Amino acid sequence: MKLVHVVGARPNFMKVAPVLRAGQAVPGLSQVLVHTGQHYDPSMSDSFFQDLGLPAPDENLGVGSGTHAEQTARIMLAFEPVLDRHQPDWVVVYGDVNSTVACALVAVKKGIRIAHVEAGLRSRDRAMPEEINRILTDQLADLLLTPSRDGNENLAAEGIPADRIRLVGNVMVDTLLRLREVAAKRGMPEQLGVKGRDYAFVTLHRPSNVDDRDTLAELLSALDDLGTRMPVLFAVHPRTRRRISEFGLQAPNGPVRLLDPLGYLETVNLVDGAALVLTDSGGLQEETTVLGVPCLTARPSTERPVTITEGTNRLVASRRDAIGAAVTDLLARRAGGSFRPGKPEGWDGLAGERVIAALLDAALPSPQRLS
Ligand code: UD1
Repeated sequence: MKLVHVVGARPNFMKVAPVLRAGQAVPGLSQVLVHTGQHYDPSMSDSFFQDLGLPAPDENLGVGSGTHAEQTARIMLAFEPVLDRHQPDWVVVYGDVNSTVACALVAVKKGIRIAHVEAGLRSRDRAMPEEINRILTDQLADLLLTPSRDGNENLAAEGIPADRIRLVGNVMVDTLLRLREVAAKRGMPEQLGVKGRDYAFVTLHRPSNVDDRDTLAELLSALDDLGTRMPVLFAVHPRTRRRISEFGLQAPNGPVRLLDPLGYLETVNLVDGAALVLTDSGGLQEETTVLGVPCLTARPSTERPVTITEGTNRLVASRRDAIGAAVTDLLARRAGGSFRPGKPEGWDGLAGERVIAALLDAALPSPQRLS
């Protein structure tokens, strides 16, 4: 059996790593790694390959940035000949980025089966490009591999047959548990002068937060406020850095430290030691849950509800007053010792194996597939 794994953007890399590793242990399983090049800066891509011990991609499509239409179209055009060359049994796509839906769309038209890792998540916010990518990819996929039971429920409610859905757990947690100790040796808190102190770790990059001047200005003033309580380490995505300068906004300074995008191990090292995380990332909501670090997510909704019901996550409006109040509340609760690592079902370090097992199982001829 031959698999083509597709990755393109930063959050895909930690998801493919455990699946590739699990697949390497299966005799006769051939795997091809395709990087679309959606993310291309060394700090957004190469450093992750190194930290995660990923092999160099077999194919790099080098598509780069553009509007959604440009980027999606370029990925599709570049991916088609790759499929013609490799003729896989399955295309395995990850998460909810533009590369995910673009490659699924190419595969389905070529009659190649698609497995979607991280299927079924729904924010119900159609203004998020990722929500559109999730809905479409799940409609196209033959095998829907979910990270949590709410994913199964969402897919069932959309009419997807149960025999195409498998709860495999969270592949990103496999990577986190494998590399947590390695990350702890990175010494980032020492290097940044916050060792032994309470500090906040911040990332913000969603278009809804950073593409609107007023919202971004509000968030930056919330960081200034937070900086009066503790040092703030803000790892700035290229999109966010560009917007701060385009909008002529005053970048926070003093106790708020602006950092370039960090590698995976550096990020885990800083998150693990943080007093709190303020973010709009999907992955950090999950990582903070597993690490037991309080997380404020600056978004109106989340596609990852178990991080709230079973983890350390809480939604907060992207407003200075709301964030200030949430921080006060959270620090009081933290002093009361009420944050414990969350362990949602299947977030156990073995999801990659379950992905491969589901693919091998689905590959068996069945009356339904033969008809
Ligand atoms: C993408 C994903 C988002 C994910 C995020 C993680 C989609 C729709 N969005 O958003 O779900 O959370 O990745 O980072 O797929 N840029 C660089 N260097 C790079 C990559 C991007 O400078 O290596 C800049 C470019 O100005 C680019 C902008 O960032 O136009 C946005 O990049 P893009 O890949 O379109 O989306 P992200 O905002 O990174």
